[in-house]
Amino acid sequence: MKTHQFEALIVGAGGAGLMAALHASRGAKTAVLSKLYPTRSHTGAALGGIGAALGNLEEDRWEWHAFDTVKGGDYLVDQDSAEILAREAIDAVIELEHFGLPFDRTPEGKISQRRFGGHTNNETGKPVRRACHAADRTGHMILQTLYQQCIKNNVSFFDEFHVVDLIMNDGKVCGVIAIEIGNGDLHLFHAKAVVFATGGWGKCWETTSNAHSLTGDGSALTYRVGLPLEDMEFYQFHPTGLYPTGFLITEGVRGEGGVLINGKGQRFMEKYAPRIKDLASRDVVSRAIMMEIREGNGIKGKRYVHLDITPETVNRYLAEAGETRRLDAHYIETKLAETCDQARTYAGVDPVREPMPCQPTAHYAMGGIPTNNDGQGIADARNTVVPGLYAAGECACVSVHGANRLGTNSLVDLVVYGRRAGKHAAQFTQGADWTPLPADAGKAIEAELNRLRTANGSVKPYAIRQKMQQVMMDKVGVFRDSNSLQEALNDVREMKQDFKTKLGIDDRGYKFNTDMLEAWELGCLLDIAEATTLAASKRTESRGAHAREDYPNRDDENWMKHSLVWASQTDQGEMKVDYKPVTVLGKDVYKPKERVY
Ligand code: FUM
Repeated sequence: MKTHQFEALIVGAGGAGLMAALHASRGAKTAVLSKLYPTRSHTGAALGGIGAALGNLEEDRWEWHAFDTVKGGDYLVDQDSAEILAREAIDAVIELEHFGLPFDRTPEGKISQRRFGGHTNNETGKPVRRACHAADRTGHMILQTLYQQCIKNNVSFFDEFHVVDLIMNDGKVCGVIAIEIGNGDLHLFHAKAVVFATGGWGKCWETTSNAHSLTGDGSALTYRVGLPLEDMEFYQFHPTGLYPTGFLITEGVRGEGGVLINGKGQRFMEKYAPRIKDLASRDVVSRAIMMEIREGNGIKGKRYVHLDITPETVNRYLAEAGETRRLDAHYIETKLAETCDQARTYAGVDPVREPMPCQPTAHYAMGGIPTNNDGQGIADARNTVVPGLYAAGECACVSVHGANRLGTNSLVDLVVYGRRAGKHAAQFTQGADWTPLPADAGKAIEAELNRLRTANGSVKPYAIRQKMQQVMMDKVGVFRDSNSLQEALNDVREMKQDFKTKLGIDDRGYKFNTDMLEAWELGCLLDIAEATTLAASKRTESRGAHAREDYPNRDDENWMKHSLVWASQTDQGEMKVDYKPVTVLGKDVYKPKERVY
């Protein structure tokens, strides 16, 4: 096995990974390992904007952003983390601007901002322009900008190196094993600090906005070495996935004035969120769409509704609301260029002239590797730090999104907490000794990859993957209940068994063996699906994205707490589950209330 040594290793080259790498590289010898080319990372699919209370177009305050985050997260958000997010967002956006990010501009030359779901003026309750954007390609621009900065700062990149194991010694992190996809060689990376920034796991579900690569690798790896995953029951469905592919239609469409319309031609969000209507938080809007579909109000009775940004419709509603601004085709083509292109290409619909078909789509994991506010991985409900382990971005759970993330806050999270993780990791490496690698480092994963490469059973990985995605969609989707969750748990466990004993792979080679690597990724997805379903079955309340039909109410008395799930078993043969309290700051403003939108 080839060996390498870096003080700080970053796994994943999306926004969080690149931000962490950039800041780590200022104090430590740093490398980024990514199974993709960095600029193909999924951050590029985040479209509509990054939230920061710059107040460029109207009054705004970071305190309002923090409150909206806590409220949007249905009060499961750690309040100190929300304040850090909202306060540091301002400086992080300015830092990106100084790095050269081509934000859209106001006529005065300031960064342009648009409305997004759940972001409000806390005094009037009305939507506020907080999302800083570069057309509807904001994530893509962040990725390009940060990659350039990392290159400038001499960060080493190992592209198409797929990390498949985390190495620990005596409770400390000391490196990773990666497979070089092009030739199948295994590499051992010795490190003082490892920052996971591997993104989410939308590929557990059938309809998703997530790229093919979003298979929860980093979270599954930490889970497999005996660390917990936090708040896995909270998985967000974005209300507007393009029907039938599930590709993301940005919330920026509604931010610019677009409206949701059912099969009866009604603007149905007026019923579910009378104050801010289509700009309610995502959990509320996704449930509303599903309820309309269930009541037979889908378009032509089918499983989708319409999202209408045609100037004719939008201008009528803007006039009704007493707004003076009006949209025209040029404005839509410019501000929502990517959306127009995708709708034309993948749905054959021209958004300037006709409404787009949409349905909720699996989008974002609020849960993940538990971390503190410096991105350090933690091992238990007492917040014990795992030396050398860091996580940032979607694979991490700070927890700043609680039970439901607000739109734009994923990009804020990855720059604010990516930066914090990178800085802290660099500091840590300066004071820490090298933890020696264990003698058998990499042996177990080498054997597992060989098992997969030579597997000759009758069940193909894609068959298990399809079945898992269907089960998760039907039974662990926008709505769930105890029966559906128990069934899903049994199904996933059966699939895990098939994965171990009946798997068959066709490609026996070493070069670009994506057959084997996708099978390995499927193993990660199955672990994540099991943890998600188990945590969801234990939480007997509804909160944010976790909507239990058998427990329809939020239960603050018993459930203002984060869940932790371990892969290891208790003496009773059950997977270990524990809980830790939500961090509250004792401010009146954050006291849980009914969420009214
Ligand atoms: O709707 C969007 O543009 C998605 C952004 C996000 O997930 O924050």
